[in-house]
Amino acid sequence: MRLDLPSAARNPISLIGVAIATAMAVVFFVLLALEMGGQLRNPYLGLLLFVAVPAGFLIGLLLIPLGIWRQHRRRAAGRAAEEWPVIDLRLPRTRTVMFTVALMTCFNILVFSLAAYGAVHHMESAEFCGTTCHSTMEPEYAAYQVSPHARVACVSCHVGPGAGALVESKVAGTRQLWQLFTNNVPAPVPAPVRTMRPARETCENCHWPEKSHGDKLRQIREYADDEKSTETVTTLQLHVGGGRAELGVGSGIHWHMNIDNRVEYIATEAERQTIPWVKFTDRSGRTREYTVEGTTPEQLAQGERRTMDCIDCHNRPAHTFDPSAERAADTAMALGQMPRDLPFARREAVTALKADYASTDAAMAGIDARLREAYRPQAGASPEALARIIAGVQGVYARNVFPAMKVAWSTYPNNIGHVAFPGCFRCHDENHKAADGTAIKQDCESCHAMP
Ligand code: HEC
Ligand code: HEC
Ligand code: HEC
Ligand code: HEC
Ligand code: HEC
Repeated sequence: MRLDLPSAARNPISLIGVAIATAMAVVFFVLLALEMGGQLRNPYLGLLLFVAVPAGFLIGLLLIPLGIWRQHRRRAAGRAAEEWPVIDLRLPRTRTVMFTVALMTCFNILVFSLAAYGAVHHMESAEFCGTTCHSTMEPEYAAYQVSPHARVACVSCHVGPGAGALVESKVAGTRQLWQLFTNNVPAPVPAPVRTMRPARETCENCHWPEKSHGDKLRQIREYADDEKSTETVTTLQLHVGGGRAELGVGSGIHWHMNIDNRVEYIATEAERQTIPWVKFTDRSGRTREYTVEGTTPEQLAQGERRTMDCIDCHNRPAHTFDPSAERAADTAMALGQMPRDLPFARREAVTALKADYASTDAAMAGIDARLREAYRPQAGASPEALARIIAGVQGVYARNVFPAMKVAWSTYPNNIGHVAFPGCFRCHDENHKAADGTAIKQDCESCHAMP
């Protein structure tokens, strides 16, 4: 038996090419089978499966004609061709060599696959996304780590499954990489993210809209600037609702999530905060258009048109920053991250948070110095409470203000609610009127009760 390659291809370069191509083919089919079998469900797998492995395969294939061409030129130049010896499996020595080569090849493929698998795992991790570009992603990564989605990979929301999404995200990623190299990353990173996929293909992989129903109780604790940091509690009974009309629960705020109710809108500025036109299509296809008086057709023609989905309300599900220093201090105090037993604790915390600091390091030192100074004259202040309020204020600052990325309170509007930002009232303001005079209502009770 002979290794039956055309004699022209029996040269070292071509043979290396054959080996590479074969190995890549095997890796490709193994990964493909794993993906189709559902063992690997990861957007970055596509990067490997559809880009890196085929690239290797192609290089292998290209080496074959290259070797042939080179040998051809040598022959033409009258030099002896570098023919490899005939492999004769009747010889025990040849069999040993062949066996060893086969074993090594298997081993190499195993190593290669494991390395590739590890790379995929790493690239899908939040650490990779959150820290590779250092300060660029710092605000989002910091907020993400304390969000309800802290265990959800960035790519689950930002890329989603499928090869198409991956290619799109890689095209965008290449531009971002260029910005990073040329030091031109915009600060702050602009929101909304225009390349975000429809929520149906990301959020709804985990959240099943038709299942959600009922009310949600929220307690908002606020503290006064007096000596005792007096507490007031606002209780909101949010009519989240949801479901589908057929199931008998098609109401409440998640009326909006109902696939039977389609709301489209046009925003006339980049942040989607000004929405002068809204169109509602119900399940029977009936439509109603609401417009704010004085809106011109030119304004609408230039605006951005979108169909509402989860992200139009939940635009900060993983990157929630506090809207103000006051609210941040209140939340930290309610969670016990700052002691209330120091006199004027809330007032001092807010003052320390609102001061201007040039960098995060300067802020950490500045907060420490300021609070020590504020409590120095008070002999009664326990060092333990002082240490806690300093740590609490530093923590609040570190997850909300990022001087390097020009991110501070209220840089990113949060569309849930209507007090700190326009939010729901971008549409529910009684000024969006249909031809028959009906308006998108601002009736408090339709969204929440205050028991
Ligand atoms: C639960 C889903 C989800 C996860 C998980 C998630 N994000 Fe986001 N991210 C969003 C949404 C939604 C937006 C805002 C989109 C919009 O406003 O159009 C966003 C916006 C951003 C922005 C733009 C700037 C901004 O603050 O709006 C960056 C940068 C970002 N995310 C990075 C990350 C990184 C890094 C991770 C992982 C450490 C991550 N995201 C994890 C949903 C998510
Ligand atoms: C990989 C799964 C996954 C994806 C994708 C995902 N979520 Fe979640 N989400 C969760 C889990 C798990 C929780 C519950 C966390 C908890 O209760 O601690 C959650 C909680 C939430 C909550 C409740 C937060 C709270 O304060 O209680 C909202 C709102 C939410 N997700 C919205 C979204 C939106 C919007 C998207 C898409 C941009 C999204 N999620 C994508 C898994 C996911
Ligand atoms: C019209 C705005 C709006 C839309 C659209 C919307 N939500 Fe909500 N959602 C809310 C509000 C408001 C709440 C309650 C307030 C809160 O949790 O902060 C809520 C609550 C939730 C919760 C927490 C429920 C609970 O009982 O704790 C989840 C999970 C959630 N939404 C997921 C989604 C998903 C997934 C989508 C898209 C399919 C979506 N929402 C679309 C406004 C919206
Ligand atoms: C279109 C629905 C909707 C309408 C109408 C509405 N609200 Fe709200 N409201 C919300 C949502 C959503 C939140 C935020 C809940 C959260 O933060 O999770 C909120 C939050 C609030 C809060 C707490 C704000 C905070 O964080 O301190 C107050 C107070 C409030 N609403 C009062 C009112 C009053 C008064 C009216 C009637 C004029 C009204 N709302 C009408 C949806 C609505
Ligand atoms: C882009 C515009 C827009 C935004 C933003 C918006 N809504 Fe709506 N909402 C509508 C329209 C349109 C309707 C349907 C009005 C009608 O009945 O014709 C509606 C209806 C509702 C209803 C009534 C459902 C029913 O039972 O009839 C609730 C509750 C509601 N929205 C809550 C909210 C909350 C809470 C927010 C903010 C988190 C919000 N909406 C943000 C456009 C919007």
